Order: sequence, then structure tokens, then C-alpha cells
Amino acid sequence: MNSKIWLSSPHMGDKEFEYVKEAFDTNWIAPLGPHVNGFEKDIEARLGEGVYVAALSSGTAALHLALIQLGVRYGDEVICQSMTFSASANPIKYQGAIPVFVDSESDTWNMDPDALRDAIRDRFSKGKKPKAIIVVHLYGMPAKMDEILTVAKEFDIPVIEDAAEALGSTYKGRAAGTFGEFGILSFNGNKIITTSGGGALVAKDEEKIRYARFLATQARDNAPHYQHSHVGYNYRMSNVCAGIGRGQMGVLTERVNRRREINQYYHEVFRALPGVTFLSEPSADYYSNFWLTTILVDHPEITREDIRLALEAENIEARPLWKPMHLQPVFEGCSFYGDGTSEKLFDKGLCLPSGSNLTSCDLERVVDCITNLSW
Ligand SMILES: Cc1ncc(COP(=O)(O)O)c(C=O)c1O
Repeated sequence: MNSKIWLSSPHMGDKEFEYVKEAFDTNWIAPLGPHVNGFEKDIEARLGEGVYVAALSSGTAALHLALIQLGVRYGDEVICQSMTFSASANPIKYQGAIPVFVDSESDTWNMDPDALRDAIRDRFSKGKKPKAIIVVHLYGMPAKMDEILTVAKEFDIPVIEDAAEALGSTYKGRAAGTFGEFGILSFNGNKIITTSGGGALVAKDEEKIRYARFLATQARDNAPHYQHSHVGYNYRMSNVCAGIGRGQMGVLTERVNRRREINQYYHEVFRALPGVTFLSEPSADYYSNFWLTTILVDHPEITREDIRLALEAENIEARPLWKPMHLQPVFEGCSFYGDGTSEKLFDKGLCLPSGSNLTSCDLERVVDCITNLSW
């Protein structure tokens, strides 16, 4: 059997182990320490725009803290992009709030600004003002932020940007994750860079980041004994993980370049395949890290599932696009606004192996397997 080709696997650089060793040598084996502080500074420098960053245990934790800080509580409504990973929406439920799902548009596959406006108008007509909007930069492709921020401003609703998949992506030259009231990043094992598990909360308001760190470390008041006036969480990043993160930040640009190169390669080799199209940057305003290369398959005889199974038989991992949240049993009964674009994308879409550590041999195996089908 050929060796396994993964969709997106961790890709360490030269420095990560040194940083981790330093954590061991100095005995900073705790959810605080110099690497945590250094990693936060590295991310802040990379994102620019004067943002502040709190390094956390996961992107999901970052979303949860963003919702808490926006005052989302039991019974509140929160608008969320339907086409995403469930972690975008789960924290709404943690707060006892109600997700309202909005469809995708076909250029970026992210939140449709028109459907967003329809959703908000309809919620207002029912006497409900959504507490927040969670927009996602799926697969690294920036959402239509200008239009979304215009709608959000029109109705005075704060935006949380789920940039879990989009570190290194920009929209109009500005880093994904820096547009909303809050942004979140993920450093899970499958992301463009990883800390094994981890995430970050991003905000322009330093006080909000300070408060996030306070909540993430069990909300301990300033007293010599353990004194608590708020419910706290154990959401801080470990200094060992942050050491990995510091090394990974040093190779982020390389990783983005390689993923973009892989995307370009697939484009070129599949150009002749009938019915295969790609998620592509709609204009020069969009710069995607192409965390995953994604295709749509619209062919009379070959489905995306045929391709996935053919790859699986060759020990190659591929995955359907995210199944929209409004179709998920766990979110049954939640409101949905849109024209079904995300359902169509889910029906026809496939994520191809895209890791920056794929060799040219690996890529050839993927391509041969797909081109050998009866197109
Ligand atoms: C779009 C999206 N949002 C949120 C998350 C959650 O991040 P984490 O796994 O770090 O909790 C992920 C990835 O895992 C994701 O892909």
C-alpha cells in the first residue's frame, strides 16, 4: 500500500523544537510564560493594524470569549455563516443563545451580504435584534468584508471574524481577522501553521484582550487569596505549545507560498477536465492562503464522491466541503436565510490534499488518480 497522503498535516520548521526545549530547560511548562507572550507579539506584528492578541487553547475558545464579551446570553440570537465547521456555531450554544444561519454567495463561498441583510431585516420584524454576526473566511478565502461591514454598520451589530482557516490571507491588503470587533485564529494540527492545538483572539481594543486573558485564566481577581467575581475559563495557551507557534510564525510566509503554489498546480493540471471548477480569488482585492484547494465537480457521470472514493482507494485523503450548519441535526429548527447556494456547494465540492509538506510525487499521485477517471 502506498503511504498515506493527508489533506493537511503539520509541517514543522527548524526552530520549533529549540523553542520547546527552551520551555523545558527553563521549566516554563504552564499556561503562561515567555513563549506565550512572544507568540502573541509575533501574531500582532504579522497581522498589523494595531491589533492585540490573546493566545488561547483553541479557536473555539476564542469564539466563546468573543461572544461572552459581546454580551451574548441565554435566548439571544447570533447570526452565523451556515457553510462552515461546526466550531463556528457551537459557542453560540454554549451561551444558551440561538444561531441564525445565513447562506453563502458563489464568489467566495462565504456569507452572502444580501442574505445577511434579509436575515437581519426579518429578525428585526420579529422584534429580535441579533447580538453578533459571525463571518468565516472559509478555506482561507476572505469574505466580502466591505459589504458585510456595511450591512453590520447599518444595523449596528458587531462582527466576529472567524479567520481560523485564514492566517496569512488578506482582503484589500489587510489581514483577515482584523476587520471585525473581534477576530479568531486556530492553530489546530490541520491548519496552515499549528501549535498542535491552539487559537487566538484578536481585537483592536487592548482592554478587550486583557479581559479575555483574565477570563481565560479562571477570572481570578486581584487578591492574595483566590477571589472570583466572574465565571472563568481554563482557555489559556500552554507555553510549550506557544514555543511551537513561535517557530511556526517564522515559516508562515513560506507555508502560504507553498499552499498557493499547490493551488496553482492543481489549476493547471485540471484545466482540461470538463466540469471541474475552483474556488478562486474573485479579484486582486482577495489574497487567499489557500489553506485547502477546493473544487466543484459538475459532470454528468463523475461526482465529487466518485473522486473522493477513488482517492481513498489510493490511500489519499480528500473531504467533501463543510456541510452547512442549517442541514446539521444538532442545529435542526434554527432559522436560515438564503437561496441554497451552500447546499449546492456541499453537493458538488471537494477539498484536495493541500499540505505545504506534500512532495511533487505526492501531488502526482493525487493528479494521476483523478485524471485517470473516465472524464
Ligand atoms: C472555520 C473554523 N472555525 C473554527 C475552528 C475551531 O478552531 P479550533 O479547532 O482551534 O478550536 C476551525 C477549525 O478547527 C475552523 O475551521
